[in-house]
Amino acid sequence: MNEKDMGTDLEKVLISKEEIDAKLAELAAEIDKDYAGKDLLIVGVLKGAVMVMADLARALSTPVTMDWMAVSSYGAGTKSSGVVRILKDLDTDIAGKHVLIVEDIIDSGLTLSWLLSNLTSRGPASLRVCTLLRKPEAAKVAIDVTYVGFDIPNEFVVGYGLDYAEKYRNLPFVGTLAPHVYGG
Ligand code: XMP
Ligand code: MG
Repeated sequence: MNEKDMGTDLEKVLISKEEIDAKLAELAAEIDKDYAGKDLLIVGVLKGAVMVMADLARALSTPVTMDWMAVSSYGAGTKSSGVVRILKDLDTDIAGKHVLIVEDIIDSGLTLSWLLSNLTSRGPASLRVCTLLRKPEAAKVAIDVTYVGFDIPNEFVVGYGLDYAEKYRNLPFVGTLAPHVYGG
């Protein structure tokens, strides 16, 4: 799917595929340096982080294992409720492991804040966060994020794993939706 196929739904391209690739290469180099000689488990948060996980994992030189969690906080709307449910838990026991959570986006931070305390209680050797996107103006809780791709304005974005009502995840770039699509 490309920009042309989006018709009038897309307002603009915010971050191009080339910019995403370059940024993930930078983040991967940092992660390689920080985890040299360690066993690293990267945990992707479904479904949004699928693209970031796939591309970041391939940009890393460090051998990693991968696991996935699915949590729900949004329903079909565009606002975080702060109420988080685990839809799919990790397959692995993370006690004593170096764990890096990989996220597509941190908006209010409520989902991640909940996830961090949940995973901390399982006793990992270390726990850090990598996110492709972050909306500083939307933050409701302060979260220490070690690896951040891009700080973006407080607008609803889609593409590169991010959806609106499950659509647009397969766009290779991150874009903003036209307000008429979500009734804005
Ligand atoms: P919070 O607000 O808890 O949100 O930090 C985290 C999760 O909400 C989704 N999210 C978005 N999805 N465009 C999307 O397609 C957005 O602009 C957006 N903001 C938040 C996302 O699943 C994220 O993990
Ligand atoms: Mg979503």
